[in-house]
Amino acid sequence: MKKVVLAYSGGLDTSCIIPWMKDKGYETIAFIANVGQGSDFKAIKQKALKTGASKVYCLDLQKEFIEDYVFPALKAGALYEEKYVLACALSRPLIAKHQVLIAQKEKADAIAHGCTGKGNDQVRFEVTARMMSPDIDIIAPVRTWELKTREEEMEYLKSKNIPIEVTKKSPYSIDVNIYGRAVECGVLEDPWSEPPENIYALTVDPRKAPNKPAYIDIGFVNGIPKKIEGKGYKPIDLVRQLNEIGGKNSVGRMDMIENRLVGIKSREIYENPAGTILHVALKELESLVLDRETMRFRQLLAQKYATLIYNGLWIIPLREQLDAFFDKLHERTTGTVRLKLLKGSCVPVGRKSTYSRYKLKMATYGQGDVFDQTLSEGFVKLWGTPFQE
Ligand code: ARG
Repeated sequence: MKKVVLAYSGGLDTSCIIPWMKDKGYETIAFIANVGQGSDFKAIKQKALKTGASKVYCLDLQKEFIEDYVFPALKAGALYEEKYVLACALSRPLIAKHQVLIAQKEKADAIAHGCTGKGNDQVRFEVTARMMSPDIDIIAPVRTWELKTREEEMEYLKSKNIPIEVTKKSPYSIDVNIYGRAVECGVLEDPWSEPPENIYALTVDPRKAPNKPAYIDIGFVNGIPKKIEGKGYKPIDLVRQLNEIGGKNSVGRMDMIENRLVGIKSREIYENPAGTILHVALKELESLVLDRETMRFRQLLAQKYATLIYNGLWIIPLREQLDAFFDKLHERTTGTVRLKLLKGSCVPVGRKSTYSRYKLKMATYGQGDVFDQTLSEGFVKLWGTPFQE
């Protein structure tokens, strides 16, 4: 028998893949990646074995996810189509990386995933895997198999005498990890229909959020968030803490029509409390410490960075080159931002840094003004000169 390493979630699709691969002559090693989805990993492990996996790997990738994927994207200000913090998109190259490492260790012939042929995730998995291991076989059963509905999938498992409980079908497709949550399908497929309140899990209904604003101070060192309210946190704990505070105040909801790489538009509802807070805060600190030209130029690169990640190109050299740019840019992004959270809004109300470029004596309209206004007459005349007839 040949060997395949399957990225296994414990859901119905990937559960069917295990016996399906057996029919094709493969023994399946199930790989469960813990990226903070909060599942019962013991139960999922059992399920994989019950379904016929010969071996199960379960790796906690949360630390690597936050430190090596989420924070670099934050430093780049990467928001896809100006909105999406890329929580799901960033997890895929990490999962693919470990899947290939396991495949290499196990001398497997192939890797497999449960992505459909309509989404972005297949691209992210496969491009990463091929860059790491050009000759590896990649099997994506869901793109081609005959199991079209959930009922057919359950029938299929029954026919194989695999007794697994299936939870009641939610009308939604949900992806969740430590950095956020995405919900699509069901009524959300109509772009005109407002998301029902019950689809949210990380954020409370803004009407039930406190009427009193929450103030939080976030401390950054070189563009990396380190402190909340003056207290130091490890990366994972910092993100968890911000999810908690943000969620309570209903911060981080986003209703978005986005352009998928495969050419279709889709409607997704996101919940990213920590991601929203961090992007707002870091951008604010940058506005204090970066000069005007750097700020404008970094905007272009932020867009580029976000598109690379979304389109499955995390692993290409350009991303690392952009990281080098952003590391350099953040040499001065050290300081603190104070945010006010209230019923879904998240606004900066204060910022400070020893690297601040804000010069009170130049800006002030009060005492101590050193701005030489007599220079402005000539400056403005020359500025408009090129456009005069
Ligand atoms: N649209 C997002 C992305 O491409 C999330 C994909 C998964 N969404 C979901 N609801 N299952 O990164």
